[in-house]
Amino acid sequence: MKGVVLAGGLGTRFHPVTKVVNKHLLDVFDEPMVFFPIRTLAAAGIKEVTLVTGEEISQFKRLLGDGSTLGVHLTYAYQEGERGIADALSRAEALVRGDPIIVILGDNIFQESLRSEVDAFVEQGKGARILLKQVSPEDARRFGVAEVADGKILGIEEKPESPRSDLVVTGCYLYDDRVFDIIRTLVPSGRGELEITDVNNVYIQERSMTYGVLRGWWTDAGTPASKLKASIMVALEKGVTFHR
Ligand code: DAU
Repeated sequence: MKGVVLAGGLGTRFHPVTKVVNKHLLDVFDEPMVFFPIRTLAAAGIKEVTLVTGEEISQFKRLLGDGSTLGVHLTYAYQEGERGIADALSRAEALVRGDPIIVILGDNIFQESLRSEVDAFVEQGKGARILLKQVSPEDARRFGVAEVADGKILGIEEKPESPRSDLVVTGCYLYDDRVFDIIRTLVPSGRGELEITDVNNVYIQERSMTYGVLRGWWTDAGTPASKLKASIMVALEKGVTFHR
């Protein structure tokens, strides 16, 4: 299985900082954000990783090189502008073609190892698998929200006003090699992006989507507040104590 880290987009929630620095190069506690998803892939046993990003691709190359210091072999793909998560993934096609993939959003931080999820998907053989996490109902509005019944996933709603559950879709997706054909069928959403939720709903309609529920903590670092939370979680994990 190959890995893909998506680190494109314009990071507008962090303007003005991200007018000059890519969001995924900002710090989460004491390291660049992008280190975390790459390490998560390495810890899950993934050796070949493609990083997709935009104008700052040369800075990523300077920081990460061939990926060996983080335990992977890294290749790079370019995405222009902010055309959506599914568009960013399509940029990796030539580098991962034919293999199943595990995709992680560059601003997602997972506490636990995802190795058992990779194993479950290898066993599944085809289709897709997503990872869900229980959050507070207020928080759920920021994410894709999954509707689940009897161990089956019925659908995902992107950033709903009234979430139907408190199970949100984290930024880790496992797909068979048909994912790129599915992306080619998508049309841009109201915000002009190719949405990963639309990809996932195709697999759900085909009944070939499974899911796991995370036990450890998980956060995105995609807003100033959630990035601060991510820094605190990582610092606590590293044994830092805060004194008043
Ligand atoms: O964090 C999990 C959530 O991520 C999911 O619950 C949602 O279903 C999913 O749509 C996504 O929501 P966000 O609103 O947080 O996505 P955002 O636009 O912030 O993009 C997340 C990452 O995806 C970003 O850090 C880099 C990558 N990305 C995004 C876009 C729009 C790209 O590489 N290129 C892009 O064009």
